[in-house]
Amino acid sequence: MFVCLGNICRSPLAHGIFQQLVDEAGLSARFEIASSGTGAWHVGEPPDRRMRQTAQRYGVQLDDLRARRFEVPDFDAYDHIYVMDRRNLQDVRRLDQAGRYGAKVQLFRDFDPEPEDGQVPDPYYGGEKGFETVYSIVERTCQRLLDHLVEEHDLASGSEV
Ligand code: 4NP
Repeated sequence: MFVCLGNICRSPLAHGIFQQLVDEAGLSARFEIASSGTGAWHVGEPPDRRMRQTAQRYGVQLDDLRARRFEVPDFDAYDHIYVMDRRNLQDVRRLDQAGRYGAKVQLFRDFDPEPEDGQVPDPYYGGEKGFETVYSIVERTCQRLLDHLVEEHDLASGSEV
């Protein structure tokens, strides 16, 4: 589960790129991939047009995704919850009132080989360049994340059923 604020820019991009990498690796049956936002402003909407266009240029389709909110049942439904920035981390942790799910929640950029401040910058109020920057961060981080999960869950020999 990839989480950002609006679920229309960063987390749907991670969702789409990661799904594509998993499909290409023949591991689709081993993953349940989702994305959501901590805020409800854009629920039901497709990803931001600028994010869809940037992804499309790199061959990634986000058109069928629809924004939804992160909800408490997601803590049980998903094994790993990757958040895009520290505000998301704080907001998701606040929903975990009994503090049971801390180990599942972590910054997505923990897997980035060039993590900078550990956060994916929010491109929503910026220009086109911000979307390119987000794309390159999310693409390289998704690749490392998949490598990590294949190792952690011993998926290397797994193939489609
Ligand atoms: P995201 O970007 O969290 O990457 O989807 C945003 C989209 C919308 C808003 C904020 C961030 N908003 O305030 O509407």
